[in-house]
Amino acid sequence: MTTSQASSVETLRWCEGHLEMIDQRVLPARFQYLRYDSAQSVAQGIREMVVRGAPAIGCAAAYGVALEALRHRKVSAADFAVAMERSFEVLAASRPTAVNLSWALGRMRRRRESLASQPVAAQVDALLTEAHEIRAEDIRVNRALGEHGAALLTDGARVLTHCNAGALATAGHGTALGVIRSAVAAGKRISVIADETRPFLQGARLTAWEMLQERIPVTLITDNMAGFMMSRGEVDAVVVGADRVAANGDVANKIGTYMVAVLAQRHRIPFYVASPISTIDMSIADGAAIPIEERSQREVTGFGDCQWAADGVSVRNPAFDVTPAELVTALITERGAVHQPNRERLAALLARA
Ligand code: MRU
Repeated sequence: MTTSQASSVETLRWCEGHLEMIDQRVLPARFQYLRYDSAQSVAQGIREMVVRGAPAIGCAAAYGVALEALRHRKVSAADFAVAMERSFEVLAASRPTAVNLSWALGRMRRRRESLASQPVAAQVDALLTEAHEIRAEDIRVNRALGEHGAALLTDGARVLTHCNAGALATAGHGTALGVIRSAVAAGKRISVIADETRPFLQGARLTAWEMLQERIPVTLITDNMAGFMMSRGEVDAVVVGADRVAANGDVANKIGTYMVAVLAQRHRIPFYVASPISTIDMSIADGAAIPIEERSQREVTGFGDCQWAADGVSVRNPAFDVTPAELVTALITERGAVHQPNRERLAALLARA
C-alpha cells in the first residue's frame, strides 16, 4: 500500500505490474491507494467498495482479468484458458447492478478468444493492452459526454446531484460531475448541491470532496432536503449518473435517485442522466428486469464502528432504484443528448456510428 495526496484524482492506475486503486471507503479522511495483484483481490475490492461507480468497476474488472493473465504467464495454454474462465466468473459475481462490469468483461473475453491460438505470452500482453485501452477510452468518452451535457446547463445554474458520478466513479473526469467540470471549463458559473446519499454517503464523502479539490462551489445537503431546496427555487437542474439504462430508457442509479426525479418533475426542473453508451443494456427491456443489489444491513444501522439503530431491528438496504424513462428529460451520452429517451431513440443512438 502506498499513501500520497494526488493533485488530480486518478481512481485506478497501473504501477510496476500492479493495479492501484484509491480506497474510497476511507475518503475524505484518508487518501490512500491499495495495491492489487489478482482477479480475486480485485473482485473483493469491488464488492467491498474500495472502487465503486459503474465505469470504474468496469475498468477495475478489466484489470482484474489482466492481472490474472500475468499471474499465469508461464502455464500451458489449456491451464491459461481455465484460469481466465475462473477470473471472468469471480469478477462477474462481485456486484450485480452496474452493467459496465459485464460490458468490460465481455470485451476482455472477446479479446482473448480472438487470440486463443496465439502463445500464452501474446495473450497476456494483449489483455493488459485491452485493459489500458478500456481505461483510456473511459476518460475520452467522459470528456465527450461532458461537453454535450455542458451545453444543456445555463450560466449560473445550481445543479443538484445524487451519489458520486465523478472522477472517482470512472477512470477520470466523471459522468454527471464530468458535465459540471466541462461546463465550468467552458466558462459557465456552476454551483453544485450534493445530496449526502445515505447510507454509504458517496455524496458527502466523495462528491463534496471532488468539487472542493477543484474549487467548484458545492453545498452539501441531506437527502431529505432536496424537496425543500426545489420548492424554494434553489435548484435549476438535476444531473445524475447511471448504473444501467434499460432498452426503454428506464435508469437504475443509486438508491434515492427515483425520489429526486419525482421531485424534479413536480417542480418542473430538468432531470438529466449522464451515461456512457456502455451503460445502456439493450438486452433488458425495462427497469423492472434490472438486478438490484441488496447490501449489508450494517450500512443502514450505523456507519463504520458506530451503530445507532436498535439491535435486532428489521432492515432493508437496496443499493439502487429505477427511475422510469418518462421522468428523464435527457440521457447525455458521448454521442450527444437523447431527449425523452425511449426504445426507438436509444436504438437509433446505438445504430449511429
Ligand atoms: O454503489 P455505487 O457507489 O457503486 O453507486 C454508484 C452510482 O450509483 C453512480 O451514480 C453510478 O455508478 C454512475 S457513476 C459514473
